[in-house]
Amino acid sequence: MTLRRFGVILLSVTLIAAVSVPAVLASLSSGPDLDQETSVQGQVSVASIETQADLGRFLFFDKRLSGNNATSCSSCHLPDETWTDGQALSTGYTSVEYFRNTPTLLNVSHMTLLDWDGRFDGADMAALVRDHIAEAHFMNLDGRLLVERMLQVPEYAESFEQLFGVEVNYANVLNSLAVFVATLESTDNPYLDFKAGNENALTAQEIAGLELFEGKAGCSSCHSGDLLADGGLHVIGVPANPNIFTNTARHITFRRFFKQFGVGEFAELRSDPGRFALTHNEADRGSFRTPSLLEIGRTGPYMHNGVMETLDDVVRFYNDGGGDTQNKDNLLQPLNLTEDEIGSLVTFLRSLSSDEPPFDVPTELPPYEVTN
Ligand code: HEC
Ligand code: HEC
Repeated sequence: MTLRRFGVILLSVTLIAAVSVPAVLASLSSGPDLDQETSVQGQVSVASIETQADLGRFLFFDKRLSGNNATSCSSCHLPDETWTDGQALSTGYTSVEYFRNTPTLLNVSHMTLLDWDGRFDGADMAALVRDHIAEAHFMNLDGRLLVERMLQVPEYAESFEQLFGVEVNYANVLNSLAVFVATLESTDNPYLDFKAGNENALTAQEIAGLELFEGKAGCSSCHSGDLLADGGLHVIGVPANPNIFTNTARHITFRRFFKQFGVGEFAELRSDPGRFALTHNEADRGSFRTPSLLEIGRTGPYMHNGVMETLDDVVRFYNDGGGDTQNKDNLLQPLNLTEDEIGSLVTFLRSLSSDEPPFDVPTELPPYEVTN
């Protein structure tokens, strides 16, 4: 069984030769600048909004979805960084600094639980998108203001009329982003090819790594199924990232977040309590969702707090039996892997990545209407 069963939608979208922009729009001021970090790899113009996913793609790159017009989804989920930001910890909204690592968006629409603590249901991506737009640590934009802004962008207003037969509304903005995110999928990668029956897709060393992954190293007891994730949460004892406590802005965000979740000792915390914030059950302290390992070779640094830089660090952490936490999952035990075995396991993990086709970033964003 491979991801293909989900009906993989390739990232490369067939591009319609840019239809000329209606004359009425020619006199309008240009749209906001695209993120500096995002390189333009394709030619997607606003004239190509034909489906809800097309609309979602534009919204994803549009900074007008943030309180100060400075942050888009793509500021943190960069196509060139495998839809992560490549950093250990997210910078968050302007001057905020968030305290967790930015996950990739590839295959995320198949996950059972969303976010590191699983606080969103995979079946309701729109709820997560609403949280990301509204929360002060991500995009800090009120839904009503968002709708007002969209109404002042003629091409968005027209797209809404055409696609939904109604004026711009918040629910359709959220759903369009969710539909776009669901188009981000792994394409063929050596591991998926191998699982589909192509015995030559993996090298002998990678196959040795796969055997360890499913055998002696016990990884597949949690990293199982098509996504290499069991849909559950576990305590594996990842050490704290000291930066969360030495960076003042970050520490404030961290405290405010857990205060909001009713964690009484929010000011004394010295590590991320993870799932505990939602359940207030001691057994869940330090519990995090099992992440998918597809694309893992391209999404470092690793873990909820980015504290492990390389896959070699990760494998050595597991080889030692995981972290030093009382309530650690007893599936984790010292593995006694040899140096050769550690090497094979790391090589196998690298084979879990696709050779992704370039993604077509919008070349321009629809402008506001100038009323003077
Ligand atoms: C300021 C940086 C930032 C911005 C902007 C941002 N994200 Fe995120 N995103 C993150 C971080 C960090 C997480 C993990 C949060 C956590 O677990 O606490 C995340 C998690 C996610 C997830 C869940 C991933 C998973 O594996 O569970 C999705 C889906 C997502 N973001 C989509 C979006 C969309 C769509 C937008 C735009 C509306 C957006 N993000 C804007 C940083 C950002
Ligand atoms: C008891 C369940 C469990 C077992 C067994 C397990 N993992 Fe994990 N794995 C997790 C959880 C939960 C996380 C996220 C923990 C966190 O961020 O604090 C994780 C995170 C990871 C990550 C980082 C993912 C990312 O996106 O940053 C990698 C890589 C990984 N595991 C590989 C392995 C390998 C290799 C093995 C076998 C040696 C293994 N895991 C065994 C549950 C498990």
